Amino acid sequence: MFSVNLTGRVALVTGAGQGIGRAIAQGLADAGARVAVNDINPQTAALTAEMLPGEANAYISDVGDPQAVQQMVNQVVADFGRLDVLINNAGIEPKVSVLDMAVDDWRRVLEVNLSAAFYTSQAAGRVMRAAGGGVIINIASIAGHNIPLKDRAAYVASKAGMIGFTRECAREFAAYGIRVNAVCPGVIETEMTAHSRANPAQMAKWLEDIPLKRLGIPEDVVGLVLFLCSDAARYLTGQAINVDGGKVML
Ligand SMILES: NC(=O)c1ccc[n+]([C@@H]2O[C@H](COP(=O)([O-])OP(=O)(O)OC[C@H]3O[C@@H](n4cnc5c(N)ncnc54)[C@H](O)[C@@H]3O)[C@@H](O)[C@H]2O)c1
Repeated sequence: MFSVNLTGRVALVTGAGQGIGRAIAQGLADAGARVAVNDINPQTAALTAEMLPGEANAYISDVGDPQAVQQMVNQVVADFGRLDVLINNAGIEPKVSVLDMAVDDWRRVLEVNLSAAFYTSQAAGRVMRAAGGGVIINIASIAGHNIPLKDRAAYVASKAGMIGFTRECAREFAAYGIRVNAVCPGVIETEMTAHSRANPAQMAKWLEDIPLKRLGIPEDVVGLVLFLCSDAARYLTGQAINVDGGKVML
């Protein structure tokens, strides 16, 4: 397995109570980082923090709330003394057509999937700028490359926005030694895709479309995240990289 040494670094992972976020938190901790585990769900966040080797704390907050995010970042820095890596992973994916979607539901998806990355990147970016550098990774989606999904307008818009925001941040933050990249997973076996995976016709379509002939598991996303966190990726910023078994080839 690809090995990276993040000893001495502190990482904050949002939405790390389960799924891809939990796997990333595990990968970062295995690589030696101390990990701040964020989730809106107190039980799952606590469980992830308990599972990790080394020092890890749970931070329960809604990343869609800018004040809560600022307080969380302040607390992480107070607890660990630094913040080197930010992984914006928390996300929601309600399934509803444009014609039926309530305005508040649209706003909520944009808050959690996109505006949250602005709140965390501003708060953590200021800490990283003062420290002379850092790494930010935004978990977008292959859906962010303007690939439409049925009844997921807010989700697709948020993920396309996340890729645009990644590039803007990368450009601005480069002057401070902060690299910013997006990771775009394909279809990964988590709770988010459980409903669609239960549909045999959908599964057959996916398997036909994915050259590597299987869905991803959360651990499939971790190698790329670790690489982007590492000094081996020191000349890499502003990119949106797919990890999807070859489903999308741009
Ligand atoms: N699963 C996939 O196929 C897939 C594909 C592409 C992108 N992604 C992206 O990967 C990320 C993780 O997805 P997943 O599949 O692990 O989903 P998941 O639903 O299993 O986990 C998402 C986590 O985010 C947390 N969360 C939700 N709203 C939050 C909020 N406001 N504040 C803090 N935490 C919050 C949830 O409690 C949950 O623990 C998401 O951004 C998702 O869009 C997933």
